Amino acid sequence: MIKCIKCGAKYDLKDIIYTCSECGSILEVICEPDISKDVFNCRKSTMWKYKEFMPVDPAKIVTLEEGGTPFCKCDKLGERLGVDLYVKVEGSNPTGSFKDRGMSVGITKAMELGVDTVGCASTGNTSASLAAYAARAGLRCVVLLPSGKVALGKLAQAMFHGADVLSVKGNFDEALEAITALALEGQLYLLNSVNPFRLEGQKSIGFEIVDDLGWKSPDRIILPVGNAGNISAIWKGIKEFHNAGFIEDLPMMTGIQAEGAAPIVRAIKENKEDIVPFENPETVATAIRIGAPVSSRKAIMAINESNGFAETVSDEEILSAQKLLARTEGIGVEPASAASIAGLIKLVEGGEVDNNEQIVCVVTGHLLKDPNTAISACVEPIEVNADIKELSRIIARG
Ligand code: F0G
Repeated sequence: MIKCIKCGAKYDLKDIIYTCSECGSILEVICEPDISKDVFNCRKSTMWKYKEFMPVDPAKIVTLEEGGTPFCKCDKLGERLGVDLYVKVEGSNPTGSFKDRGMSVGITKAMELGVDTVGCASTGNTSASLAAYAARAGLRCVVLLPSGKVALGKLAQAMFHGADVLSVKGNFDEALEAITALALEGQLYLLNSVNPFRLEGQKSIGFEIVDDLGWKSPDRIILPVGNAGNISAIWKGIKEFHNAGFIEDLPMMTGIQAEGAAPIVRAIKENKEDIVPFENPETVATAIRIGAPVSSRKAIMAINESNGFAETVSDEEILSAQKLLARTEGIGVEPASAASIAGLIKLVEGGEVDNNEQIVCVVTGHLLKDPNTAISACVEPIEVNADIKELSRIIARG
């Protein structure tokens, strides 16, 4: 069943519907299997390990074996910050971001519905992922990208997997409005995170975190927030496992936004249920350069219900956290993903995080998604002759 998160109106799983036709609010899929967690034993480590919790036919899934991503204990960084730190590395998914989890379910649903064209607006990763999964399923794919604001790795993926890539004169929020209008006219099946099936895949990040911790919840989960689907999805997953009796405690959901694109942080700090959009969002973390997040209501509920927190970080803090994670722990992430680490550092410095808290930072996309930002943060390689004496002299300099 699909249900409105505000008025509770119910819809059939086969309905192509993105918002409630009664009150206009966003929707969620209700999926409450009555099973024991023992059924997960000995299954391959992909997100389909938890297939009973996915609202699609498990015999017909479109998958690239997404999920089952590394869960790295980060002692060097953790000790420095005085916390027990784990990093969930979502850049290890097939197209290099967490979006693959949502697209596997979303494209499976598209196939069940029998549509022939799928589409999305994107700051980059959603389009890269959709293009790949649409190719695997043999569907036509249309993506709208904000002109000049998409990191090159992501653009390359969307084009290379054969999507119709359109560069929109405007920002992500405007592109999303346009593609939503096309979807409502029936021209394509929309696979932005307003589609509740996307979040059903992404909730598996929550499943894996508690499974990796031996069926325990961490004290806190920290992640970057853009369109706000992922924080809502992870909270939904954790609550489903809690309701099923698989875990006893719940984590504090902590969302981090860039200073120049922080409508959710502002709403949380002002104790509001709804956001006021940022008209001209701006940040180096282009993945989360979003002024009017569609899942803001779900995200605000997740943060409040879980006794969580929301904070902003500056572009400088993001870039410095990105380098710190890469150089102390060997984990390369794109700028938006580093917002979770930058947020953790700020929370520790501000006394918001308790000593020895067990914290999971979700890092959402791979370093190579945005090669330009990575290269511009480093000094250029020195040009040398392939001469042993010259090389030895340079290496000895350190
Ligand atoms: N991190 C990365 C790397 C992202 O690509 C996104 C969103 C987020 C975090 C934020 O997740 O939107 O669920 O709150 N990227 C979308 C896109 C908007 O089009 O690729 P969210």
